[in-house]
Amino acid sequence: MACHAVDKKLVGPAYTDVAAKYAGQKDAVDKLAVKVVKGGAGVWGPVPMPANTAVSDAEAKQLVQWILTQKK
Ligand code: HEM
Repeated sequence: MACHAVDKKLVGPAYTDVAAKYAGQKDAVDKLAVKVVKGGAGVWGPVPMPANTAVSDAEAKQLVQWILTQKK
């Protein structure tokens, strides 16, 4: 079962909502890339995102850069 979709909330937020929330924030890529690798909770609700340990820092940055281009 997927945790994220581009345009709708599943376990985690829709990527279009993430992109809208962080639009224009200079440090968003670095901040979110750390969150993807380490996991965390509390921004979108109580449900935590687990650490995605199989994802390298560079891959996490690439994924987040792509997520931040997702427009509604
Ligand atoms: C490499 C795979 C993944 C990527 C790139 C990714 C990306 C993201 C991003 C960018 C956020 C927003 C973080 C924030 O605003 O602070 C997020 C939040 C979240 N993700 Fe993921 N995610 C991944 C895998 C997963 C998986 C496997 C799950 C479920 C088991 C998951 C569940 C969540 C949840 C519940 C949140 C909300 C956390 C909060 O409220 O702070 N994600 N994810």
